Amino acid sequence: MSQLFKRKPIAALVAETDEPGGLKRTLGAGDLIMLAIGAVIGAGIFGAIGTAAAGQIGPNGEVIRSGAGPALVFSFLLLGGACALAGLCYAELASMIPQAGSAYAYSYATLGELVAWIIGWDLILEYAVGNVAVAISWGDYFHTLLRGFGVTLPAWMATGYRTALLSSDPQVRGLLQSAPHIAGIPILINVPAFAIVMFITWLLLRGARESATANNVMVVIKLMALTLFVAVGASHLKAANLHPFAPNGFAGIHQGAAIVFFAYIGFDAISTAAEETKNPQRNLPIGILGGLAICTLIYVIVGFVLTGMVPYKELAVADPLARALDLAGFKTVGWVVALGAAVSMSAVLLVFQYGQPRIFFAMARDGLLPKWAAKIHPRTRIPWATTLLTGIFVALWSAVGDAAETYDLTNIGTLFAFMLVSIGVLVLRYKEPERPRPFKVPLVWPVCVLSAAGCIFIMKGLPNQAWERFGGWLVIGLVLYFAYGFKNSALRRPEK
Ligand code: ALA
Repeated sequence: MSQLFKRKPIAALVAETDEPGGLKRTLGAGDLIMLAIGAVIGAGIFGAIGTAAAGQIGPNGEVIRSGAGPALVFSFLLLGGACALAGLCYAELASMIPQAGSAYAYSYATLGELVAWIIGWDLILEYAVGNVAVAISWGDYFHTLLRGFGVTLPAWMATGYRTALLSSDPQVRGLLQSAPHIAGIPILINVPAFAIVMFITWLLLRGARESATANNVMVVIKLMALTLFVAVGASHLKAANLHPFAPNGFAGIHQGAAIVFFAYIGFDAISTAAEETKNPQRNLPIGILGGLAICTLIYVIVGFVLTGMVPYKELAVADPLARALDLAGFKTVGWVVALGAAVSMSAVLLVFQYGQPRIFFAMARDGLLPKWAAKIHPRTRIPWATTLLTGIFVALWSAVGDAAETYDLTNIGTLFAFMLVSIGVLVLRYKEPERPRPFKVPLVWPVCVLSAAGCIFIMKGLPNQAWERFGGWLVIGLVLYFAYGFKNSALRRPEK
């Protein structure tokens, strides 16, 4: 039993990061804030916000979740508070253990190997599955753009199979019959979503530095798109749209928060760049908390303008910002914002496709995944094998998946990781009180306990189905651990 909870000494973790032939340190605090904004502002604010405001109805007319309505701004504030607490916890651990594996590495040092494996496995939901949702949303905005040029793809080439299956819209469900069939199976493939993931993967395989530069450009574009939305939308606010302000009361705010939590995911992702960061002890906390503060402010403003512009019920679409501008009579602006949205989501895809391989890399280095997954390219010095594998996995799932379903799965997985990181901070304070902490969580007990409780509370706003699937995912992970990682762990079998 004690073997299962064996902790990796922090000194070993830190030493590993400076091994010759390891990753290259090139990123500063400014780059990290840009990476954080690059990871954070994306499908959540451009896509999931619509479902959060309007709610969701299932294929048989059942209410899957109730919408927040204009009270969505409270969902954002609630989430901003909860994420700030979790962000503080991430900052303490990331600055103590500046390692590519993020929460995986922190939990290896704090809660032991079994929990670390569970987190590593769980982070696939945040990074890879999260990117599935972003790619699908990207595909929706891209299609809006194409239609602006008068090009409409056949529906079976722009809609994933799961989306048709789960939709309450008879026209979308009808695709199950009208799509071309092969061997009785309807061919419903989201080609744009598949293509963007493969393109991003190609970009990443060319090397991290080029990607960071591309990210900076995309961040500027996404901020311009949202500024344009707010400036134009603010001229079209109608008091009537804000009544009733909270149509489904607190349940709506809570359930809205549970899906739009997706919009906040990513400020933690920059911790996976720890091994490529200069002076990580100082720069990581600045990057995480600075990025989070900027994004919360932007979301509250965008949420207010969006629900003030059009009746919230109109927002149950895949591209709510473009739709709102369109309904308000600003078709061209809607098109420009759709362009900004597509660019923004490309930036998100980039950061997560960057993070996931580095987590696999850290796990493989520890022997919990096969050694080939830790291979670094001799010239570009990036973990190419896992970069390629992640790309293929995400692209295939995006081609057939549904966005709302994947948002839920990503959110529950990420909140679980946040919760364990918060607990990990307390455990480490207790077990290794003397260890230098370049960044310390202030009021550590209340902050960590509130952070963990906040994560559980937000998780409780998700539909039951998300919990069931999450449970299934963890069971598969445990089976894999006992079949492979337990026997091959480098920590317990150093001779291997
Ligand atoms: N927060 C990121 C997004 O909204 C994952 O796309």
